[in-house]
Amino acid sequence: MSFPEYRPRRLRRTPAVRRLARETHLVPSQLVLPMFVREGITEPSPIGSMPGVVQHSMDSLRRAVAEAAEQRIGGVMLFGVPEVRDAVGSGADDPNGILNRATEAVVAEVGDALVVQTDLCLDEFTDHGHCGVLQPDGAVDNDATLERYTAMGLAQARAGSAMLGLSGMMDGQVGAVRDALDAEGFTDTLILAYSAKYAGAFYGPFREAVDSQLKGDRRSYQLDPGNGREGVREALLDVEEGADVVMVKPALPYLDVLADVKASVDVPVWAYQVSGEYAMVEAAAAHGWIDRRGAILESLLGIRRAGADAILTYWALEAARWLRAEL
Ligand code: PBG
Repeated sequence: MSFPEYRPRRLRRTPAVRRLARETHLVPSQLVLPMFVREGITEPSPIGSMPGVVQHSMDSLRRAVAEAAEQRIGGVMLFGVPEVRDAVGSGADDPNGILNRATEAVVAEVGDALVVQTDLCLDEFTDHGHCGVLQPDGAVDNDATLERYTAMGLAQARAGSAMLGLSGMMDGQVGAVRDALDAEGFTDTLILAYSAKYAGAFYGPFREAVDSQLKGDRRSYQLDPGNGREGVREALLDVEEGADVVMVKPALPYLDVLADVKASVDVPVWAYQVSGEYAMVEAAAAHGWIDRRGAILESLLGIRRAGADAILTYWALEAARWLRAEL
């Protein structure tokens, strides 16, 4: 026998062969842009730890979603930053709360051209920064929080949100919100379950982005970073409760969980490339230590390869422009 017996390099010889042999593709419709809208500002306000990302004013948000629709990305995920907070997050289900007003404005601007999604969690609206309401001893009260989530979900559906992003990691949240939506006739409102959301260090810049009031951490409700099978179990539970899409978050440190979840469920699986993942690449690129565009596209492709059908990423617009130019 003569060696090499088989020559895998044949499939890598020219750009045309490589293009034809590529297993995984990334297209703009698979990208969802997370956006922040802040109450009481008239100009967009930069977020120091996320260069290139801003807290939008109502006006700049409208312009930015119009551009997102032009780029034909998959959707936008809206986060609200209120002026006033309280213990139960009253701004979350107030129809005049910043997130609900922004949702109405965005839907009026883009209609069905984008899937308009909203973060369904109390942390931006509570004065203690936790994702739920607290018991007298300071612990997060799961079942009392579910009542707040159903009120928030209904307010978001009334504001026109097409898809509710349940990111609070309370037990039973998907079933509770699904039941409430159905009972009020919102049977077409989609539920995106942040099923395997891990407690960890990669949300740091996001805390600045939403002006988070959190002291402490979220370890009593978000998953322990050591647990992969538990992430799969959470996804299976959410599908059972009626989730239309399940998600793994963060993305890059949890690609194994993403692949396992993808193999275990028959609904779409998404991943969230979070603020810390964004900041790492931006910081390295700013120092000239990494090829920015190459690192961004490679990270997105890797997340797709591991199993994500779509990806929430702060680079959605820029990546969509690059991808379109490559076609
Ligand atoms: C909760 C929420 C968080 C993020 C998205 N939804 C914060 C948290 O769980 O601490 C983080 C996203 C990111 O880091 O980019 N409302």
